[in-house]
Amino acid sequence: MIKPYIICHMVTSIDGKVTGEFLSKPSCEAATDVYYELNREYNKNSANGFICGRVTMEGSFTGGWYPDLMEYEPYNSFDDFIPDNLSGFYAVSFDPKGKLGWKSDKIIDEDPGYGGAQIVEVLTEKVDLRYLSYLRSMNIPYIFAGETEIDVKVSLEKLYTLFNITALLLEGGSIVNGYFEREGVIDELSLVIAPIIADAEDKPLFMESSVSDFKLNEIKKYDNGVIYLNYKQQSEGL
Ligand SMILES: NC(=O)c1ccc[n+]([C@@H]2O[C@H](COP(=O)([O-])OP(=O)(O)OC[C@H]3O[C@@H](n4cnc5c(N)ncnc54)[C@H](OP(=O)(O)O)[C@@H]3O)[C@@H](O)[C@H]2O)c1
Repeated sequence: MIKPYIICHMVTSIDGKVTGEFLSKPSCEAATDVYYELNREYNKNSANGFICGRVTMEGSFTGGWYPDLMEYEPYNSFDDFIPDNLSGFYAVSFDPKGKLGWKSDKIIDEDPGYGGAQIVEVLTEKVDLRYLSYLRSMNIPYIFAGETEIDVKVSLEKLYTLFNITALLLEGGSIVNGYFEREGVIDELSLVIAPIIADAEDKPLFMESSVSDFKLNEIKKYDNGVIYLNYKQQSEGL
């Protein structure tokens, strides 16, 4: 299968959780700093941007804003929309029903690991057709990858062939990571472990995971109790 190389890059608690209150505790700050530093390095050296699920995109970038779709006519086609101005650095948004409201076609953030990334919406046929007109008016690229759920393999093949994306960071949350893990498309795990245990309610690295083998590639110890673990898929050369 033709697809970008996928690096799942996440901060986890000692007990392998990735969501919840522990992320904003002072004892997680050092891990978060390491995480953002590694994100910048990956995006500078090898990755063409990052993928996030709808919930993470909303929490990190759109803040729940949504356009008034009454202002748009339905766009009656499920063709992909690829404008001419592709940037090579992407924020790939797994947003099956088109729930995310973007005020710009690029991520606005001071961190160069995120700021300036061109938004790409990955949709299903569950989308409101007026949302397609809104995305077109914003010049935001979109692709279709499934009827009700996003078919991860179809989406990755399109990202590779239509955008020339050869490597992407998969940056959560738990639900989108789980979809990727179950499809066996994760090539590398890049885990920054914070010295803290999470709440029982918090979600794991992969929601609804399956059994799969990885080879340990690198262990690094940082200040303030932060550990970095890097694994590659069994079939990957080290
Ligand atoms: N520790 C870390 O490094 C890290 C990194 C990023 C985020 N986070 C945390 O993760 C939390 C959010 O994670 P989450 O697991 O709740 O949500 P998420 O994975 O960010 O988003 C899940 C949503 O994405 C859509 N989606 C993703 N893949 C899909 C597929 N294959 N088919 C259909 N829909 C798909 C669905 O949207 P709809 O609901 O619209 O159908 C789904 O409900 C946040 O609290 C954030 O703080 C942590």
